[in-house]
Amino acid sequence: MLDIKQVAKRSFHMKNANAPYLLSNISATVDKGERISLLGASGQGKSTLLRLLSILHTPDEGDICLDGVSFRQMSPSLWRKQVCYVAQQAVMLPGSVEDNLKVPSQLHQLPYDQKLAKRLLEAARLSSLDLKKDARELSGGEMQRIALIRSLLLRSDIILLDEVSSSLDAPNTLAVEQLLDEWHRSEGTIMIGVTHELKQAERVSSRIWFMAGGTIVEDTSTQQFFENPSTETARQFIGRGQTEVH
Ligand SMILES: Nc1ncnc2c1ncn2[C@@H]1O[C@H](COP(=O)(O)OP(=O)(O)OP(=O)(O)O)[C@@H](O)[C@H]1O
Ligand SMILES: [Mg+2]
Repeated sequence: MLDIKQVAKRSFHMKNANAPYLLSNISATVDKGERISLLGASGQGKSTLLRLLSILHTPDEGDICLDGVSFRQMSPSLWRKQVCYVAQQAVMLPGSVEDNLKVPSQLHQLPYDQKLAKRLLEAARLSSLDLKKDARELSGGEMQRIALIRSLLLRSDIILLDEVSSSLDAPNTLAVEQLLDEWHRSEGTIMIGVTHELKQAERVSSRIWFMAGGTIVEDTSTQQFFENPSTETARQFIGRGQTEVH
């Protein structure tokens, strides 16, 4: 369903054809219903890769296809209706919480599903939140959950989750994990999520992409990755290296 073919992105800073590669040689195929955790050290390009997959950045080389159709043959808006990126830093638009929740339906001319919004707010432990409140006055953790719900309401086939529980305490992290589990079971959405919590990756995904050196160096089952990673970089990353990194 999602085909990533030899994707490369040159450095943002230098707008010339000889700029060094930030990401290169990225290929993978993702089937319906897969849940993947994207792991790697800070600055490796995890967010950039997710943003490429939702065409918020354009690949300099290679191709990305949805059901065999290249992003080059589709409008970015239609692409993003199917591949939704939930940003690492939640951004609230001017207006109330409810205005924010209605944004995807307005953007894509879809009806606003108030019942579903209410159900998701409850699952995210936000049922007591005043929906008339100015969205930019929410706490970081509230914004993060509203941004997630806003994206889920789009009902995209693929959702890209960039550290979506990084600002949350333990009970809210658990609630978001359960909400996503339930969503995955009922909707069959492909989920690709960045996390720095290795335990969370083990809990929620069945496949791991491990990034190092600007590419995916391991693409394997979660069990295989945590039991027996094939590179020394990954072994060190999960704390099983021969020499510890500090
Ligand atoms: N819009 C941009 N303009 C310039 N440089 C950028 C931009 N986006 C990302 N970069 C650079 O690309 C590199 C990869 O950044 P990215 O945010 O993808 O890393 P990451 O793996 O998500 O890191 P973290 O785990 O800290 O979130 C970094 O060196 C970053 O400075
Ligand atoms: Mg990031």
